[in-house]
Amino acid sequence: MTGMGGNPPSSYPCNPCNPWSISKSVAVVLIILFLLSGALSIMGATAPERARQGMVVAQERLAAEVGLAVLKDGGNAVDAAVASAFALAVTYPAAGNIGGGGFLLHRSGKGSAVAYDFREKAPAKALPTLFLVDGKYDPNRHHASHLAVGVPGTVAGLHLAWSRHGRLPWKRLVIPAVRLAKEGFAISPALADSLRRELPRMKAYPASLAQFSKSGNPYEAGEILRQKDLARSLNRIAKEGPKGFYDGETAALIAREMQRGGGVLTLEDLRAYEAKIRVPVTGSYRGFEIVSMPPPSSGGIAIVEILNILEGWELGPQDFGSARTIHRMTEAMRRAFSDRAQFLGDPDSNPEMPVEKLLSKSYANSLRNSISQNKASVSSTNTFSWRNESPQTTHLSVLDREGNAASLTFTLEDSYGSRIVVPGAGFLLNNEMGDFNAEPGRTDVTGLIGTPPNMAAPGKRMLSSMSPTMVTREGKLLLITGSPGGRTIINTVLETIVNTLDFGMNAQEAVDAPRFHHQWLPDQIVYELNGLSPDTLRILETMGHKTKAVRSQGAAQVIRVDPKTGWIEGAADRRDPDSAARGW
Ligand code: DON
Repeated sequence: MTGMGGNPPSSYPCNPCNPWSISKSVAVVLIILFLLSGALSIMGATAPERARQGMVVAQERLAAEVGLAVLKDGGNAVDAAVASAFALAVTYPAAGNIGGGGFLLHRSGKGSAVAYDFREKAPAKALPTLFLVDGKYDPNRHHASHLAVGVPGTVAGLHLAWSRHGRLPWKRLVIPAVRLAKEGFAISPALADSLRRELPRMKAYPASLAQFSKSGNPYEAGEILRQKDLARSLNRIAKEGPKGFYDGETAALIAREMQRGGGVLTLEDLRAYEAKIRVPVTGSYRGFEIVSMPPPSSGGIAIVEILNILEGWELGPQDFGSARTIHRMTEAMRRAFSDRAQFLGDPDSNPEMPVEKLLSKSYANSLRNSISQNKASVSSTNTFSWRNESPQTTHLSVLDREGNAASLTFTLEDSYGSRIVVPGAGFLLNNEMGDFNAEPGRTDVTGLIGTPPNMAAPGKRMLSSMSPTMVTREGKLLLITGSPGGRTIINTVLETIVNTLDFGMNAQEAVDAPRFHHQWLPDQIVYELNGLSPDTLRILETMGHKTKAVRSQGAAQVIRVDPKTGWIEGAADRRDPDSAARGW
């Protein structure tokens, strides 16, 4: 970080120059320094990275540095986001990807916002019954097979956003990733742990084992991970753009692996893939403007719906973490997640989705009126649980010196997606088909949802919770936020917003603050261990809430612009030790 103010003059006049006056001034300076260092160490725990000209916050340090170098090189927020995203495909293989998909929200320094949808699509041969064997639902087919692979969108989406906003040459943005793949990088302790845990699930795929282990033995922290096939695939993308992925050698390698493993994804599906430009979801909250991701993400609608409900109650710094606040937020979440399950899916297949109603203040008023102040609602008489979702998606936030902002979340769905590395191409394929509902009409105790808007169909995009979001006030950017975590993404992002706008936190405090989650079903508040006091839990349970502790929720990567000072605050989520904020 630079730019903390001007340098002091190199020498001071010293008149009269007697030793006593010098030692007196030295003593005063020392006392000030001493007091200051105390204050700084108190601040240290919650101080965000601060910068004046730009910021990149990402879930892996090298990728954040690649983005920062692009900003320093004259690139803008989209250039940096694209370069960091490609770098994450190398350095954060659990979720960074070229074989998956995601969303990018862009807001120009002048205030116009646009959303890029590069969600995976179902192959042309996909049907609502794709995950059934002899009429019976097979979770492996749905989540862990070649049939679970959706047509990847990342390369098309990054290129589309770059073609509309980028300033630096495309090649300049992909080459850092090529280098990281070819020359390798030192494996962090967190990556070593993650790869070790994952190896058993990769056993069925020799190319995956070859890429992420030493002939089946796990890498140790500090060893170098080189990914030669991935470097070649990235190089084709650097040279040819999306054609270097959706056509030619890479596409042929994907199609061959799909055929070998019994998938239905074909060369034609790859050639037909298109990223889309969408109009962002917008809402207002206590005089702030919210800009977020529209369908096929459910995130923007759910976040605005929850904020609209909360707006009817006063919330201030003194309310953070109280049982009343948790109760109110929980009830708002419950209602938004119920609507999510009932109504939302791919907008191109569900033109009748009641988006306007879900975003309206009058609908939120009616939902608020249905909330008791001292009693939990009941989600359903059926208590069924949803399939557990791992936190493996990844988010990055970028702000450049002209005020252009990018908020990008992308994923392979599960940690390491399908675990299938394309032989010869060196990248993992997603298992995003698992985000479609399992079986028409079947909603049951095992956690299956059978509502129509999100059933698999040819060329359809599966519903997502990824929520790249921004907050502005009177046209000025205040917050860029987003997180991984499946359905918890929506509530993690919501909480970073409420923490800054209502509870007065800086970016790092807002990211560090303990989180909780309710998603309608299962009907329980899931909270971070030690995040709610025993007293608070007791009050919530007396109200009728069920509660469950988890180790952690999400990994938000947040940028906040302090409206008073103009400092750009970058807050990496310390729940993931490799996350990093880099500013200048
Ligand atoms: O699009 C979605 O909502 C999910 N596929 C995101 C996956 C994720 O965050 C990782 N864990 N579930």
